[in-house]
Amino acid sequence: MTMDKIHMVDLFSQYTQISEEIDRAVIDCIRSTKFINGPAVKEFKQNLGTYLGARHVIPCANGTDALQIALMALGLKAGDEVIVPTFTYAATAEVIGLLGLKPVMVDVDLNTFNITSDIVEKAITPKTRAIVPVHLFGQSADMEPIMKLAKAHNLYVVEDNAQAIGADYTFEDGTVKKTGTIGDVGCTSFFPSKNLGCYGDGGAMYANDDKIGAALQMVANHGQKKKYHHSVIGVNSRLDTIQAAILDIKLRHLDEYSGARQQVAAHYDEALSEISALQVPVRQANSTHVFHQYTLKVKNGKRDELKKYLAKKGIPSMIYYPIPLYKQNAFKQFYKSTNGLPVTEQLCASVLSLPIHTEMKKEMQEFIIDGVKSFFNE
Ligand SMILES: Cc1ncc(COP(=O)(O)O)c(C=O)c1O
Repeated sequence: MTMDKIHMVDLFSQYTQISEEIDRAVIDCIRSTKFINGPAVKEFKQNLGTYLGARHVIPCANGTDALQIALMALGLKAGDEVIVPTFTYAATAEVIGLLGLKPVMVDVDLNTFNITSDIVEKAITPKTRAIVPVHLFGQSADMEPIMKLAKAHNLYVVEDNAQAIGADYTFEDGTVKKTGTIGDVGCTSFFPSKNLGCYGDGGAMYANDDKIGAALQMVANHGQKKKYHHSVIGVNSRLDTIQAAILDIKLRHLDEYSGARQQVAAHYDEALSEISALQVPVRQANSTHVFHQYTLKVKNGKRDELKKYLAKKGIPSMIYYPIPLYKQNAFKQFYKSTNGLPVTEQLCASVLSLPIHTEMKKEMQEFIIDGVKSFFNE
């Protein structure tokens, strides 16, 4: 069987579905010459705030900046400890180290890949000031117990929502909130392959508290509230008007995009659950899953072989993440214990993400599934 080239993410096909609107918005923006802080930035801010149920949305240049600005705006001081999972993208812990804070890297839950309140509780010391849960691969960490713990210890919570925009978390009393709006600050990346991605770099922070919202805005804009009056050391981090215009269009499709990803995931589940050497993604009971990644665990130690086998058939797959952060040169200074973080070790050696995106054709997915099945049948 011949098959179009398979991509982990098919951004071109997605673009073709909305190209007229996008092209018009980009041309309008160029013709207006309002490249920085143009009207589309304000509109997108408002629309994203409404979508998320967040009072304040502060767009910025990328998801890494969002995390950095969040920690700066909360007034954390050098030496303060910030609890962060070691099974995440480097950006989450990098900004903590960059600001002279101490990343306290903890293990994650073997099933959901996220931190839990039990894991976090053991890492709290008198110096702990904040927790950064990452809603990895598209589903929420179990936020209600994490928020209770944070309240009891007077800690800030900065949610790394780069991979889970649009996911819903349900509290015990039935209240539903979007991920990123539960803690003090939510941080998002609009990197092109993200569930809500722009055509370059972009990011945003969101908050419900007015003081925090104002502090985020101020830090993102050179520490100034009023032009040329700089109250604190800040940064220059903005979302370009063109990117805001693109995101505003794509935001209207976000729920539909999440639905398409969920359908692909359900079909993978159905087809691959029968393979005993594989663990399909486990769902967190009180979160929806927006499947930024569809990540399998390969339990027979043959993950790397499977990856190579699929590649030979033209099926891409990715390992998110191959090396625990606490073992990386940049981060090992922050991990002194000799115990290690065994769940992360196990995950780094066994996870494999399959192609998933909003334009996956049935026959393409069947081809991928057949490829995976044939590896285990050989
Ligand atoms: C979990 C996580 N946090 C932060 C980031 C950083 O986002 P950006 O690449 O927009 O700086 C990413 C992006 O890959 C991410 O996956």
